[in-house]
Amino acid sequence: MDWDGLKRHRSGQGDLRIETLLDNPSRARDFSIRADGLLFDYSKTTMDEEARAGLLALAEATGVAARRDAMFKGHKINETEGRAVLHTALRDPGPDPVMVDDEDVLSGVHATLSRMADFADALRGGDLCAPGGGRFTDVVNIGIGGSDLGPAMATLALAPYHDGPRLHYVSNVDGAHIHDTLARLDPAATLVIVASKTFTTIETVTNAATARDWLARAVGEEAVGEHLAAVSTAADKTAEWGIAPERVFGFEDWVGGRYSLWGPIGLGLMIAIGPAHFNDFLAGGHAMDLHFQRAVGADNMPLMLALTGIWHHQVCGYPTRAVLPYDQRLARLPAYLQQLEMESNGKSVAMDGHSLDIPSGPVVWGEPGTNGQHAFYQLIHQGTGVVPCEFMIAAEGHEPALAHQHRLLIANCLAQAEALMKGRSLEAARALMAAQGLSGDELDRQARHRVFPGNRPSAMLAYPKLTPFVLGQILALYEHRVFVEGAVLGINSFDQWGVELGKELARALEPVVAGDASAAGKDGSTAQLIAFVRAAR
Ligand code: F6P
Repeated sequence: MDWDGLKRHRSGQGDLRIETLLDNPSRARDFSIRADGLLFDYSKTTMDEEARAGLLALAEATGVAARRDAMFKGHKINETEGRAVLHTALRDPGPDPVMVDDEDVLSGVHATLSRMADFADALRGGDLCAPGGGRFTDVVNIGIGGSDLGPAMATLALAPYHDGPRLHYVSNVDGAHIHDTLARLDPAATLVIVASKTFTTIETVTNAATARDWLARAVGEEAVGEHLAAVSTAADKTAEWGIAPERVFGFEDWVGGRYSLWGPIGLGLMIAIGPAHFNDFLAGGHAMDLHFQRAVGADNMPLMLALTGIWHHQVCGYPTRAVLPYDQRLARLPAYLQQLEMESNGKSVAMDGHSLDIPSGPVVWGEPGTNGQHAFYQLIHQGTGVVPCEFMIAAEGHEPALAHQHRLLIANCLAQAEALMKGRSLEAARALMAAQGLSGDELDRQARHRVFPGNRPSAMLAYPKLTPFVLGQILALYEHRVFVEGAVLGINSFDQWGVELGKELARALEPVVAGDASAAGKDGSTAQLIAFVRAAR
């Protein structure tokens, strides 16, 4: 089925209710996938047998499987940058080689991983100490985008495994971020990791210079180097910064920034949880890689997660997607997924240079439950638009003494999905008002406010417990979902040209804001704003 066929099928569904689909006793099982302990249930959606068959046919017609295989084989599928896409190699234990330009890249990956582990162990065990002889109690990771969101999200997610030095993440060029972070720390006991794939990102080099000055003032210029480490693909630039090569952890240009957590960009995470747990995290990602390569059609979890998203966004026309982890430690996951999905698939031009004639990726947003319930769920339940929700829940928490709270968390998560699907009819709302003693026009008026339209779709990802292995599975699942969406749309999910223009303009505007250059030639609005900030300071 092509796009038009899918849209025709959707219109033909009329006012089909999800509840009606679930009258079929095998619907829940048939529209779910289990893989290595995970359960993905997309049965509470309007995707029926015919829609699923059509979506799978679309995936086949757009060559998803061939493109997947090309990615894993190291072909240069990032065509606009002429690069392979091999973040999967970072979590590949071997022994089969992974070739790029006739060279096996796995030995390099494993050597870097083992250098990272030595560094992390030495730091955690106190063998690598500050020049003054004391232990490093705090580590500050300075990076932004993919050099921040992944490790910051994962460090929080795996807090129960955190037994290393304290980790802090600084990203924003707003001086408030680094100021407030460093203000709490002792420079003599702080190690700073400068994490930047390119080592040219203005936010990171500016914050790194601020941190370097802070260190130098406290420990002296000659000792600064022992408080620094770097993660980058640009060894020449880290050398210009005077960071000793043994403290630099490199990676290759076939790892995209937003896919880089699995290698040296994950150094902060490894320092926090230790190399053994980091390896479990990699193993979880690799297990999902194997599943993605081997499972066929409707048994393939990333494929069906992607097709569920495509059904909702491109076919049903719902403009956004909410990601709602009922897991406080996944609080930063929505922000991480925003970069993963929106930087990857927020494109208007197909790989062949033509304009897309279908919408590209959706707006992704979200917050952990139950907090969101007391904030924006009102709109999800009763607003005029439909927001497909992707819930996430662990069967078990990490706090046995608080198991009763975890049961409440699960009950809330399941109740929201049920409420979205079932809603409340006018008759039920009228009965509720009558039971409260209302009658006549007032009963009608009050009842209408208490109607929930229902039939609002949601999907659920359930996992046993948020362990390093499970986090690896979840993140690789979402990476492959983004991959499938991009392949079906025919776009390159691995470049990000759309972030460049703003960077260029900011570089040119900085001296104007500083008052060292004129605002002549700027549009009236920009000139007015520059005049305002110049006059107000
Ligand atoms: O500006 C976007 C971006 O290039 C992201 O893709 C990347 O994750 C981030 O900036 C940081 O880049 P770097 O790691 O090179 O500093």
